[in-house]
Amino acid sequence: MTATYLTSVFQPGIFDNKIVFCTGGAGTICRRQVEALVILGANAVIVGRKKEVTEKAAAEIQQLRNGCKVIGLSVDVRDYKALQEAVARSVEEFGKIDYVICGAAGNFLADFRHLSSNAFKSVVDIDLLGSYNTVKAAQDQLIQNKGTVIFVSATLHYYGVPFQSHVGAAKAGIDALSNALAVELGPFGVRFNCIAPGPIDGTEGISRLLPKGMKERARKLVPLQRFGTIDDVANATVFLFSPASSFITGATIVVDGAAWHTGQQIALPYPESILDSDELGFASPSKSKL
Ligand code: HXC
Repeated sequence: MTATYLTSVFQPGIFDNKIVFCTGGAGTICRRQVEALVILGANAVIVGRKKEVTEKAAAEIQQLRNGCKVIGLSVDVRDYKALQEAVARSVEEFGKIDYVICGAAGNFLADFRHLSSNAFKSVVDIDLLGSYNTVKAAQDQLIQNKGTVIFVSATLHYYGVPFQSHVGAAKAGIDALSNALAVELGPFGVRFNCIAPGPIDGTEGISRLLPKGMKERARKLVPLQRFGTIDDVANATVFLFSPASSFITGATIVVDGAAWHTGQQIALPYPESILDSDELGFASPSKSKL
């Protein structure tokens, strides 16, 4: 059966014959981005670290539209060679790639005093190097097909967010990469934009990063007085891949209900949560009380 996309703003079939390649495609936000594109006509390749989870998600997404094809490939975006192979496999299957979503990400709460060099590196490698690797592996396809790239960024680097120095640094790098590539590959007809989601309900960002008991307070700090939905992010994705945004590149769409303007993404008591971080055990997943 063919699922109906939630908003009637976008026409069915606008992505007919388009192929999307998405890293982190089995995750909550990226999966919905891919689902929206598939419902509106695209075929897709999703890649993720966990083989079974990725293949299962691909099979489920494929159910959303009669005749569509979605494949799931097991890839760690830190492995450039594996990404090259995934791109080759996608081209073998579909003949081309038109759209790329760089969505693979890693995150945990850790204060700087307890964040190890390797922990910092792990997140920068997944988020930033992984985004670079993805675009690099797909560059011939992007240039050949005048493709479009969306990086899934964040707002954590717009100001100082405690416990997120690793992710903020990685996402700042992604924004810089997107801007530079928009300039370098613009003459080839390739567009690069970022989507920066804020607090999106039903995601790991809320369940793992927002301390229990803080949800209601965090919601009130969103000027629009609600958390975002995965469809809010999917709608921005559809817009940025559609011809409606054909003159938009090197831009970031913040999908956060203006949350970052209130500067309270991690609603922990300040400075107590920093000073008491030994006791709270942020640096140790096993000890974490969040
Ligand atoms: C402190 C941690 C840690 C934690 C891991 N490390 N988890 N340090 N607190 N909770 C440290 C380890 O001790 C180790 O350092 C180093 O990080 C690497 O850990 P590994 O487990 O060996 O690495 P790896 O398997 O590559 O795992 C990657 C990971 C992990 C990012 C570290 O957390 C992960 O795979 N997470 C699942 C994916 C994920 O996080 N998705 C969430 C995306 S949500 P040492 O020094 O001991 O060697 C999202 C939304 C953001 O991004 C929204 C913001 C508001």
